[in-house]
Amino acid sequence: MTAIDIDIKRLPKHIAIIMDGNGRWAKLRKQPRIFGHREGAKSVRKVVEASARLGINNLTLYAFSTENWNRPKHEVKTLMKLLVSALKRELPLMKKNNIRLNAIGHTDMMPENVQHELQEVLDETKTNTGLILTLALSYGARQEIQRAIQEISYKVKNNIISVENVDEDIINKHLYTQNLPDVDLLIRTSGEVRISNFLLWQIAYAELYFTKELWPDFDEISLHNAITDYQLRERRFGKTSEQIAE
Ligand code: FPP
Repeated sequence: MTAIDIDIKRLPKHIAIIMDGNGRWAKLRKQPRIFGHREGAKSVRKVVEASARLGINNLTLYAFSTENWNRPKHEVKTLMKLLVSALKRELPLMKKNNIRLNAIGHTDMMPENVQHELQEVLDETKTNTGLILTLALSYGARQEIQRAIQEISYKVKNNIISVENVDEDIINKHLYTQNLPDVDLLIRTSGEVRISNFLLWQIAYAELYFTKELWPDFDEISLHNAITDYQLRERRFGKTSEQIAE
């Protein structure tokens, strides 16, 4: 399958990915889990570049979930190290490809050096106008929704907004993803068929794509396959096929 099969006029505006299977990829090779994460970071680079090349506007990656804090200390520490080195290494590439970095999640929980590096890349890329690459870091969708409800409740209590005005638009504006469009295509690798607390509100109408490929094996062709599959589906948003054809 090549990019030729993709209809550039009907690209998903927002692709989100649950990058799963690094550990299993490493285990299959009798290597420590971190070997898989390192290889997974290479897939991140491939998929980011491929997305920018295609002209995708938004790519959101589940890099570290709130639940991931429960992994062995050593693995968490190495993942953080990997993140810092990837941010440092990829900054020139992001600048070259006009990519703007964005982060969602409880990023205050991240170690100081990660926050520092992250801020640097956010600042250095903030005027870029191409692909918005969002990293979900210490992210959990339920926590995001809880936080939004707290903020909205506070504003209602202080008469900043009225109860009647709390609509989808207001809720959107209080989520971490406030400036991003809804997800059109959600990809999960490694054969697991779960959402795992990722972007629960934002995937309401997303097409879901599950592949058995482990994340370190996922590359440009895999991304093209997912987009081609997405383009073969009929998105009805609750309407009938006849209404869509009108
Ligand atoms: C899931 O594989 C992957 C993660 C929890 C972390 C994702 C991190 C990366 C791809 C590396 C670096 C990230 C960036 C943004 C440069 P798993 O460990 O759950 O795999 P398993 O289910 O096979 O154990």
